[in-house]
Amino acid sequence: MSTAGAYRRWHHHEEEPRVRVYVWDAVVRSVHWLLAGAIVVLAVTGLYIGHPYGGSVGPASPHFLMGWMKTVHFYAAIVFTISFAARVLWFFIGPKQASWRQFIPTTRARWANLTRTLRFYLLLSVETPGAVAHNAVAGLAYTAVFLLYVVMIVTGFALYGASANVGSFMYLFHGLWPWVGGLQTARLIHHVVMWLLLAFVIHHLYSALLTSKQERNGELDSIFSGNKFLSREEIDSGRDDFGPRKSAPTHVRT
Ligand code: HEM
Ligand code: HEM
Repeated sequence: MSTAGAYRRWHHHEEEPRVRVYVWDAVVRSVHWLLAGAIVVLAVTGLYIGHPYGGSVGPASPHFLMGWMKTVHFYAAIVFTISFAARVLWFFIGPKQASWRQFIPTTRARWANLTRTLRFYLLLSVETPGAVAHNAVAGLAYTAVFLLYVVMIVTGFALYGASANVGSFMYLFHGLWPWVGGLQTARLIHHVVMWLLLAFVIHHLYSALLTSKQERNGELDSIFSGNKFLSREEIDSGRDDFGPRKSAPTHVRT
């Protein structure tokens, strides 16, 4: 779309025909919400583990508060780790919109999308990025988030190895200590990365709201329903992301 055309549409709020495109399959959506839910639980319980706040005075046995916090943290950690492992598998065996290629730019079209998106974000252009699934900048940001997940899992399991029974399978993870700079460093990294993730979440909610409103494509709802509402032009410019092989249920809604 020409810049003038994009500006005219944006400025005059011209409606254009939209097509419903099913972008996020059930695995992407379920994993997104399992991970988001787990992060909330892990942050609340983790903050308590790091800095016990109130209520836990006197002997531990009547309230067992720290014990409960740790138990819940570890169950949520299992949900977190398994969900993330499922998403990683889905990078390779899932549909195109869920592929690792959405996150790491490998094609010329993807690099072009990266430049287009950056120009839009830097207010150098009013042309919206026009991706069907993630735009290239969002994809890269999510790559960073996934790497932070790996850091949380590695440091978390290293910490767990410290208190696991010597005969238990989990004790194997004490072998991670040298890799994470020892227990105290692991604890510091685990704590700081939590704040990085929480900072990302604030930005994530804001940018999902903003782009949803700006592009008027139902993006915010898409992580619930799986559907986005895209113009023909957006679909064509994002063709690279969304090959014809995937016969996603589309339905014209003008
Ligand atoms: C702990 C909280 C959250 C984290 C860490 C998180 C992280 C992520 C990640 C990594 C993706 C990429 C998903 C993939 O392709 O596998 C994503 C997509 C998305 N998330 Fe979240 N999310 C969180 C909460 C939320 C909430 C509360 C909303 C909205 C109410 C939301 C809206 C979306 C939308 C609309 C997308 C897909 C659109 C896009 O960016 O292209 N997220 N999120
Ligand atoms: C996004 C995910 C996670 C968040 C936000 C989180 C948060 C935290 C925080 C804030 C602490 C306290 C650190 C401190 O001492 O200041 C903690 C401790 C801990 N976390 Fe996590 N965590 C996450 C994932 C995991 C995972 C995947 C595991 C894997 C088993 C794990 C295992 C542990 C362990 C073992 C401790 C130390 C408990 C102790 O001191 O006995 N965490 N977590």
